Amino acid sequence: MAGSGTAHMRAEAGPVLAVDDMVVEFPVGRHQVVHAVSGLNIDLLPGETLGILGESGCGKSSAGRAIMQEPAPTAGSVLFAGEQLTGLKSRDLRRKRSKMQMIMQDPVSSLNPRRKVRDLVAEGLRIWGFDGDDMDAAIRETLTAVGLDPDSVWDRRPHELSGGQCQRVCIARALMMNPDVLICDEPVSALDVSVQAQILNLLERTKETYDLSMIFIAHDVSVVKNISDRVMVLYLGKTCEVLPSSDMHTRSVHPYTRTLIASIPGGEELASVDDPVTGPVVVDTPLVATATELPSPLNPPSGCRFRTRCPLATELCAAEEPQLREVGAGHFVACHHVAVS
Ligand SMILES: Nc1ncnc2c1ncn2[C@@H]1O[C@H](COP(=O)(O)OP(=O)(O)OP(=O)(O)O)[C@@H](O)[C@H]1O
Ligand code: SF4
Ligand SMILES: [Mg+2]
Repeated sequence: MAGSGTAHMRAEAGPVLAVDDMVVEFPVGRHQVVHAVSGLNIDLLPGETLGILGESGCGKSSAGRAIMQEPAPTAGSVLFAGEQLTGLKSRDLRRKRSKMQMIMQDPVSSLNPRRKVRDLVAEGLRIWGFDGDDMDAAIRETLTAVGLDPDSVWDRRPHELSGGQCQRVCIARALMMNPDVLICDEPVSALDVSVQAQILNLLERTKETYDLSMIFIAHDVSVVKNISDRVMVLYLGKTCEVLPSSDMHTRSVHPYTRTLIASIPGGEELASVDDPVTGPVVVDTPLVATATELPSPLNPPSGCRFRTRCPLATELCAAEEPQLREVGAGHFVACHHVAVS
């Protein structure tokens, strides 16, 4: 479960990862602070994929890195497999964190250009002193699992690989650690469109085979919707809406979510598709494609952070911050004015 009001869901199946009131701030110069993430709550359930969706600069990567403690968040807690990561000393942290792996936004630059594929894939385990005769077999097995031919890539360096192959190497590196949680930060946005579907399929297969829970970060509505069980929409470091991904097009109500849907090709039609179970869905929130820029995270708007771009904004939106409230099963929204049928 993600968002607030999640206690009853936690009781049903304990989250593998629980992020509470996480804040990520970056001091800039002497007096300024970038408010990258402001009070984020996430409960990641075993076996689920939670999508984190939002436009560039809304704090997605900062959130992912802070969950990994790279660097640790400014405030808040990250509970992983029952242990508080935020208080751990470096060796304990590294040990614990090895079961939570992150795939970075740019596959090529996240790999050391001087190292060969076989060393890149084995790196994590070697740091822990694992090596020996069965290491080569494990590397081969993992390379095969991610769709690479071990013999042809074994001695290659990243610049001798395509972007898609580099991303497969990154996934193999993560899998070698036998993780429980995989955080994928825009894993396909740097890749050619033709390769994107292959990597997404690989991630979905990998999740099943390795029994992973996944956080999938991206700015592309369709990609996030397709791969996720639930979607969390972020705007300027805050959660706007959390809902089952199958409800994204028909039941999302936050004006920002509706804006994101309206901005994809055919988005306005998609939004009017009837719900297959309940029939036509009435959503009073208008679809608006806003052209204005994201406000600066150095000085976020008061009250609701979306208010400077929101067609429904009133004085209340400037004066009071809307809190996440449950408006349906597994559906949470932070907005003063959405009407839910
Ligand atoms: N180390 C840093 N120092 C200062 N500001 C930072 C730092 N890292 C990120 N930021 C700022 O924090 C905000 C959130 O950045 P972040 O990279 O988390 O966004 P994002 O949602 O991942 O964007 P994108 O989709 O472009 O990857 C941005 O304004 C960014 O400029
Ligand atoms: S709280 Fe106000 S400004 Fe924010 S999304 Fe809702 S209507 Fe728009
Ligand atoms: Mg990012």
